[in-house]
Amino acid sequence: MKNIYSNIYSFNKKILKKTIKSMKQGNIASLPTETVYGLAGNAYSNKAVNKIFKLKKRPKKNPLIVHYYNYSDAKKDVMFNKNFVKLYEKFCPGPVTFILKKKRNSKIVSCVTANLKTIAIRFPSHKIMRSILKKIKFPLAMPSANLSTGLSPVSALDVYQEFKEKLKIIINGGKSKIGIESTVVDLTEKPKILRPGIISPKQIKSILKINFSKKKSLIKSPGMQKKHYSPGIPIVIGKKPSKVDEAFITFGKKYKKSSNFFNLSKKADLKEAAANLYQVMRKIKNKGYKKIFVSNIPNIGPGIAINDRLKRASK
Ligand code: TXA
Ligand code: MG
Repeated sequence: MKNIYSNIYSFNKKILKKTIKSMKQGNIASLPTETVYGLAGNAYSNKAVNKIFKLKKRPKKNPLIVHYYNYSDAKKDVMFNKNFVKLYEKFCPGPVTFILKKKRNSKIVSCVTANLKTIAIRFPSHKIMRSILKKIKFPLAMPSANLSTGLSPVSALDVYQEFKEKLKIIINGGKSKIGIESTVVDLTEKPKILRPGIISPKQIKSILKINFSKKKSLIKSPGMQKKHYSPGIPIVIGKKPSKVDEAFITFGKKYKKSSNFFNLSKKADLKEAAANLYQVMRKIKNKGYKKIFVSNIPNIGPGIAINDRLKRASK
């Protein structure tokens, strides 16, 4: 069934077929995941991958994550190690991405990995993603479905707002439950977190029974260095606004109701706050506010990922 937007589709067998056929031809589609919505294309096809970079206006030096159905699919392209196996068994499918060495005979086209010898892989848990990945014979290169440096989308309408009719297929899979991008863990040498996410450093440490490397890796996730996750208006952290045309993002129940106040979680639940973060920032931007202030968010568990995104968005 079609929605009022001609390129947003509910999921069913017919759209599954249509999407797979389109991706086989080297086209891209926006698909829902449990973290954020992605722009998916055949990772073995230069045509498809180039389309992704072009549409997102993403710099070619920023590599993409490759998404697989399971372990045995990924084995064709990637060299596994013990740490990977431990984390895979605990967290996959789920919101975590692993940086590993790419196999020499891998068919992944070199622009996916920005010519690096390493590759980022993920096994998403969203039902729709899993039913698509199960049916295709190629993995999916899939960055978040937003214009480069902007806010990641957590609904089909958010994706539509980013790309309008430039996409032929956007599959509506409901609001992304986690709402922020996957945790990225570099496992090529001593494990290191490159991008915090809902799976926290503490959880990963407890599985690997190690401490993280303090050494700076040569190639960091490019998203770590630049302005990123930005709603396109200034963000000030740890202060209250002084005018009504400025929005205030709050957390917990100590703040009174006000039309320019937006609470991430009244019950002070950091998971819920993470799930609401991008949606709230997008809403504030769409309402025409000129500036965002944010109250302090506890820097523990999911709070680490929230503060990471806020800090980059405020750059
Ligand atoms: O939750 C997610 O991971 C979402 C959904 C759609 O799966 N995807 C996502 O992709 O956030 P993207 O492209 O927006 O972010 C991928 C991050 C970037 O910061 C990129 O630099 C990093 O992963 N990355 C990819 N390959 C890498 C590599 N070989 N080494 C280091 N970082 C890498
Ligand atoms: Mg992104």
